[in-house]
Amino acid sequence: MKTFFNKSELSQHLEGLKAKGKSVGMVPTMGALHQGHLSLVEKGLQQSDVVVVSIFVNPTQFNNAEDLEKYPRTLKRDVALLETVSKETIIVYAPTPDDIYDHNVESESFTFEGLEHEMEGAFRPGHFDGVGTIVKRLLMAVNPDEAYFGEKDFQQLAIIKKMVKLHNIDVEIIGCPIYRADDGLAMSSRNERLKPEYRDVAPFIYQTLQTAKEKFGTKSARKVAEWVERQFKKHPLLKLEYFTIADTETLRPLKRKSNKKNYRAFIAVYAGEIRLIDNIALN
Ligand code: PAJ
Repeated sequence: MKTFFNKSELSQHLEGLKAKGKSVGMVPTMGALHQGHLSLVEKGLQQSDVVVVSIFVNPTQFNNAEDLEKYPRTLKRDVALLETVSKETIIVYAPTPDDIYDHNVESESFTFEGLEHEMEGAFRPGHFDGVGTIVKRLLMAVNPDEAYFGEKDFQQLAIIKKMVKLHNIDVEIIGCPIYRADDGLAMSSRNERLKPEYRDVAPFIYQTLQTAKEKFGTKSARKVAEWVERQFKKHPLLKLEYFTIADTETLRPLKRKSNKKNYRAFIAVYAGEIRLIDNIALN
């Protein structure tokens, strides 16, 4: 499998492929790859001749120094896992911070028409500036036809769609469904860091979302939220950070239900030191 550590060598290689009429898809990641990431890569390979998987733990999107330090870095294993999917049609781009940031590892400041103030934006200051900065740079470096992002990070997906529109970046952003472990826990690179007692109880998060969805059929958003908060207050190990039912377009918290709108429930939970997020479509 071809692995590039350097932007200019990567673009030279991609230019050659594009000149031969090959279409290029892209899956940006921070590595510690799992089946959720692979589901994006597989979707990309159905639509494009080659898929560039970027692997870069982006310092500017971490608002917690310890989380950045402890984020798993497993490049060799990641490459081996990607090779099980395809050796010929996947290209890895694993830049150094200086390569992708041109020696200036800092965030640009973005506005995403308010999407950045909700949920993850409120609880992780600066996070979406970091995400916007790196994704813009990665898209510039690769210049793909399509880029794939998971609904696991639904707010990130919405923000990236908004960014390419506001900044006229010529790429199609494609959202992919959440890939879950057999017990329902949304796959995440952070799951690796869960101590066994926390991993055992973590499926409670998705179970609660599923029941919240049922309750949303007959109850108000406020009643559903209160019910969720009670479930976590009773839970001995998991700590709720937020539960929000929001409009899928604006990501604003739901005030009054409308039949014409789509809603999703979003949740962030601490399992010990590890912060997990998940979400579910409600209608
Ligand atoms: P990372 O957490 O590695 O995720 C890379 C991509 O995989 C994201 O689009 C994410 O939503 C998707 N993904 C992760 N787990 C998934 C799952 N269980 N099911 C479906 N998709 C899943 O998100 C990032 O990295 C970074 O913020 C990044 C966009 C790479 C910018 O640094």
